[in-house]
Amino acid sequence: MECEQRLNWLILAMICPLIAGAPSSMSKRHGSCPDENLNIDGGSFALSNNYSDGSFLRYICPDGYYPSVQSRLCQYGLWTPKTSARKPPKCQKVTCPNPRVLENGEVTPYKNRYYVNDTTTYSCHYDYKFRGTAVRVCKPNGKWNGTTPICGRDSDHCPDPGVPPGSSRTGHRFNIDNKVTYRCDSTLTLIGSKERVCQDGGQWSGTEPQCYAHFTYDTPEEVSEAFSSALKSNLAVSRGDQQGKKITLDQGGKLDIYIAVDASNSIDKDNFYKAKHTVKLLIEKISYYEVSPNYEILMFATDVHPIITMKNFKSIRDKDKITKVFEDLDNFKYEDKGDRTGTNIAKLYSYIHESMKIEESINAMSFLETQHIIIVFTDGQANMGGNPIPKVNKIKYHITKNDPKREKKLDLYVFGVGKDVNKYDVNGLVSLRDREKYFFMLPDLDKVQETFDHMLDESTSVELCGIHQDYDDDNKRRAFPWLAQINVVRSSHSSRCMGSLVTSTYILTAAQCFKNGDTADKITVLLEKNLKVLKVKKYILHPKYNNTAKQHMKIKEYFEFDVALIKLEKALTMSANLRPICIPCTKETNGALRLSDSEGTCRKHEELLMSNELVDAFFTSNMEIGTDVPRKIRHITIKRGKYRDACVEDAKKAVGVNVTNARDVVTDNFLCSGGNEPQTDDVACKGESGGATYINKKGRLIQVGVVSWGVKDICTRRNPDPVSQAATRDYHTNLFSADILSFLKDHLGNDYIGNPLTFF
Ligand SMILES: *[C@@H]1O[C@H](CO)[C@@H](O)[C@H](O)[C@H]1NC(C)=O
Ligand SMILES: *[C@@H]1O[C@H](CO)[C@@H](O)[C@H](O)[C@H]1NC(C)=O
Ligand SMILES: *[C@@H]1O[C@H](CO)[C@@H](O)[C@H](O)[C@H]1NC(C)=O
Ligand SMILES: *[C@@H]1O[C@H](CO)[C@@H](O)[C@H](O)[C@H]1NC(C)=O
Ligand SMILES: *[C@@H]1O[C@H](CO)[C@@H](O)[C@H](O)[C@H]1NC(C)=O
Repeated sequence: MECEQRLNWLILAMICPLIAGAPSSMSKRHGSCPDENLNIDGGSFALSNNYSDGSFLRYICPDGYYPSVQSRLCQYGLWTPKTSARKPPKCQKVTCPNPRVLENGEVTPYKNRYYVNDTTTYSCHYDYKFRGTAVRVCKPNGKWNGTTPICGRDSDHCPDPGVPPGSSRTGHRFNIDNKVTYRCDSTLTLIGSKERVCQDGGQWSGTEPQCYAHFTYDTPEEVSEAFSSALKSNLAVSRGDQQGKKITLDQGGKLDIYIAVDASNSIDKDNFYKAKHTVKLLIEKISYYEVSPNYEILMFATDVHPIITMKNFKSIRDKDKITKVFEDLDNFKYEDKGDRTGTNIAKLYSYIHESMKIEESINAMSFLETQHIIIVFTDGQANMGGNPIPKVNKIKYHITKNDPKREKKLDLYVFGVGKDVNKYDVNGLVSLRDREKYFFMLPDLDKVQETFDHMLDESTSVELCGIHQDYDDDNKRRAFPWLAQINVVRSSHSSRCMGSLVTSTYILTAAQCFKNGDTADKITVLLEKNLKVLKVKKYILHPKYNNTAKQHMKIKEYFEFDVALIKLEKALTMSANLRPICIPCTKETNGALRLSDSEGTCRKHEELLMSNELVDAFFTSNMEIGTDVPRKIRHITIKRGKYRDACVEDAKKAVGVNVTNARDVVTDNFLCSGGNEPQTDDVACKGESGGATYINKKGRLIQVGVVSWGVKDICTRRNPDPVSQAATRDYHTNLFSADILSFLKDHLGNDYIGNPLTFF
C-alpha cells in the first residue's frame, strides 16, 4: 500500500482511512492544496514547502500553549487531517499533571487543573517527614519544577518512593523485595519504571516514573543536566581518588559508542544535515573528556546504513580517527539515504547487536571489559520490522549475561526528537536504573544541539583547557575565557599587556611588561567582566630574559625569552567564562588533541600543530574599553620552512636594530608572522605583547607562542586594526623551545595552590 510506504505510523493512522477510499481521479490530482481554513486560534503556522504536494504544515503556539492539531500534510490536493471551518484548530493551555496525588500531606491551592505559572505548595501531616520541593511551579513544557514532594515515615528499609504528579501507585510497604507499581492518568504516558523493587542497599530499582502528556517536552537545560551526568560517569577517567558511587572507566578502559540517527522519510534535507551536525557536535563534546572512545555511526530508515562500523573504526590506522569519521559523515549525502520510507528500529538494534558479536569474536576478553553505549536519535515511530524491544533485550542479555553487576556495562539512550514520538514504545528501549534518565524528549534538532552546548557548561568540564565556543551570542567572553589584560602602574610609563590564563593561579604574559622595581601591588589583572581587581602574589620573569643583553651588538632591545608568569594570590574558580588556554606538551592538551596517553609526546604535539610551512594561527587585539572582549581576532600565518628566512630577515629593518645577521635578533626561540606573502596577515599593535598566539584545533585553542615584538608599529588611532605591509613582521616567543618549556614546567607543573599541569 503506497500510503504505508510513504508515511510514518502516526500520520498513517490519521490519513490512511481517508485515502484508502478516495476516488482514483483524486489521487492523481497533484499540485497545490488550498490556502483557506488553515489558521489556528491564538497561533500561527509554518509550511515546509508552500502549498505544494507533500508540504508539512506545523502549528505554532506561544509558550504555555499547545496546538489542538499538531501538524497537517498536503496530500492529493487536500490538507489532512481535515479541520472544520467552524471549529478551527486552536492553541490550548498547557496543563501540568495532577499534583494532588500526594499522600499523607496537603497540596494548596486545590484546583481541578493547573496551568503554566501556577504555583503549588506542599506540606505533610503530623508525624510525616517531608522530602522534595515544597513550592513547585508549572513550567511551559508541562512539568512541575523541582522534584516530587514526598511525605514519608521512613520507617521501612527503603524510603517512601512517593507518587509523582499524574500517577497512582499500588504498594505501601517498603521493605526488601517489596514492589510498587505505577500508572499514569489515562491521557498521560509513563516514562521511567512502571515497577520498582526495594533493594538490599535501601534503594529502589529503576528510575522514578514521570507522566508525560503528548505536549510534554524536556528543556535543553533538563536534558543536558541529566544526559551529561549520566554520560559523564562513563567519560570521566577514574583517578583512584574520586571513586564515587557511579562507575567510572578505568584508565585505558575501553568505550564503544554506537550512535544511530533516524533518517526516515519525515526528515527533510535541512533536518538531515542538522542531524549529521548533531552527531558531530556530540562526538566533539565527548572528545573534551579524557577518553578516546570507539564509534559506530549509523543512519537508519527502512534499512540501516553504516557511516562507519565499529570494526572499521578500530581498524583505522590514522591517528586522527575522528577526522576520518567527520569526513565520512560529510561525504554522506541526503540522496544517499536510500529507501527511507520506513522506520525500522528493530533492524537498527539487530544491526548493532551483530556489530557487538563481531567485536566479541575478535577479542572476547576485551569485549567483556568494554563499556557499551548506544545513543539513538529518532523522530518517528517503528512502523516496520516489528517490536524493537525484544532486540534490545537480546543486546542487554548479551552484555550483562544476566549478571546484575554487569548491568552497568551497557547504557541505552534514546533522544525522541519531534512532535510525533511514541513515548510509550521508546521508553522500553532505554536503560532504567540508577535514578538516572535515559530517555529524552525534545521538540526538534535545534533543541538537541542546544542541549549539547549546555553540556559543556557543566561543572566537570570547566577545567578543560582551550574550550572555544564560536557561536554568535551575547556572551563573547565564552570564546576567549582565558583572555587577560594586564596593567602595571608606575609613576611614569605605565605598561599595558595582554596575557592568558594557563592554570587557575597563573597568567602567562611577556617579560617586557615588567621593569626593574615593579612590585606585585602595582599589577592589576582584568580577566572576567565585572571581576574585582585580582590580587597578584608575584611575577616571575624567564631567568634568561635580558633586554639589554645585546646592546654591544647594536641591538637596543633584545627580546629572547620574553615570557613571564603572574601568580595570583588565590586560585580562581573556573566557569564557562573563565577557563585556561591549552599549553602544549601537557597531558591536559593531549585530550584537546584527541591523543591517548601513550601517543602523547611533545614532538607529537608539535607535529600536529606546527608541521605546515604556513601555520594558521591567531592572537587577539587588546580589549575594548570597559569590556572583557577583544576588539578583534588577529589572523596570522606562522612562517616556517622556506617562508621563515624572509620573515626573520626583515628584523633588520626594525628601529634600534643594526645587524648584519638577522638571526642575532630573531633566534630559533621565536616564531615569525606578518607580511603580505603568500597572504596578508594582521599585525600586532602596542599593548598586545604578552597575548597568546594560538592555534584553533577543532574548537580547542592551544597556545603556541607569546606575542613579543614587531618590526614596525603601524597602528594608529584612526586605524587601530591595520593589516600587514610587506615587511611588518611580528615575532612571538616559541612555546616549543626547550628553554621556554622548562620555565613553564618549573612553575605550572608545581602549581599547588591551583591545579598543576602535567608536563611530559
Ligand atoms: C513559496 O512561495 C514563495 C512565493 O510564492 C516563493 O518565493 C518561495 O520560494 C516558495 N517556497 C518554496 C519552498 O517553494
Ligand atoms: C509565565 O510567567 C512568565 C514570567 O512572569 C511570563 O513571561 C510568561 O508569559 C507566563 N506564561 C504564561 C503562559 O502565562
Ligand atoms: C521553581 O520555579 C520557581 C519560579 O521560577 C522558582 O522560584 C523556584 O526556585 C523553582 N524551584 C526549583 C526547586 O527549581
Ligand atoms: C644583561 O646583559 C648585559 C650584557 O651582557 C649584562 O651586562 C647585564 O648584567 C645583564 N643583566 C642581567 C640582569 O643579567
Ligand atoms: C649601522 O652600523 C654601521 C656600522 O657599524 C654604521 O656605519 C651605520 O651608520 C649604522 N646604521 C644606522 C642606521 O645606525
